[in-house]
Amino acid sequence: MKQCGDARQEALRRLYDGYVDTYRLQDGTLPRMMQLKLAHTGFVVKNAMLIADGETFDALERETSLAAALLHDTGRYEQLKRYNTFRDSDSVDHAVFSHDIVKASGWLEESGVARPDAVLGAILYHNRRDLPEGLDSVTLAASQTVRDADKLDIFRVLQHEIATTDWRNDRQAFWNLATEDPPNPEVIACIEARRPVDYQKIKSLSDFVLIQVGWMVAGLYYATSRRLCAERGHLKFRRDFLHQITDDPAVDRVCDIAERVLMEAEGGVAG
Ligand SMILES: [Fe+2]
Repeated sequence: MKQCGDARQEALRRLYDGYVDTYRLQDGTLPRMMQLKLAHTGFVVKNAMLIADGETFDALERETSLAAALLHDTGRYEQLKRYNTFRDSDSVDHAVFSHDIVKASGWLEESGVARPDAVLGAILYHNRRDLPEGLDSVTLAASQTVRDADKLDIFRVLQHEIATTDWRNDRQAFWNLATEDPPNPEVIACIEARRPVDYQKIKSLSDFVLIQVGWMVAGLYYATSRRLCAERGHLKFRRDFLHQITDDPAVDRVCDIAERVLMEAEGGVAG
């Protein structure tokens, strides 16, 4: 069963790669921003595999989750080509866009995945603040896996951005967010209440980083995801970075909450 699932994932991967190839330039390379999305997709699939293994998914949950991970950002290439931005608020909702492209492509039928509807659902819901009520167990597993696997890679991307840009002087590095402003108290209050934070509340670079600390508190669904997050040192990186840009004592308060949540996941696996 697992081998059949792997063959279908391979078929899907070939179809996806063929689609991405249509965005290549004359010299065979992808525009840089598209190449970053392709790399992101590869990491999200790897994270999804680790989650499927860690959570001992059955064959159907695994196949559906890996397919959804591969396809979740399919619309990013066309979004960039048409609108020259990844900002959904200035263009299209990229999850809806990805869903529509995948649905119209016929790849899911061609590759023979068992639950095309669940793959499409997981793509559609991957960027929503909340999942709809009443999803069946396979759609739910695939949706939660993609959302966790995506966040785990966004942790990597932020660290890469900080390491490779002159973020203190180049405001473009983080969408013109003020590097020196203190955290928005509303963001802190949401995280302390273990509620998801609305992205409209992001006013400064600290808010942007704190949102990700908030994901560690309440945004990672699976214990395996929290364990991976702890093992990769993403919280320590954010705590150290936040200390560089603000002396607001709320930073340590929310980082301590996240640390406790992540330690529980680590302990849960060890024990
Ligand atoms: Fe996405």
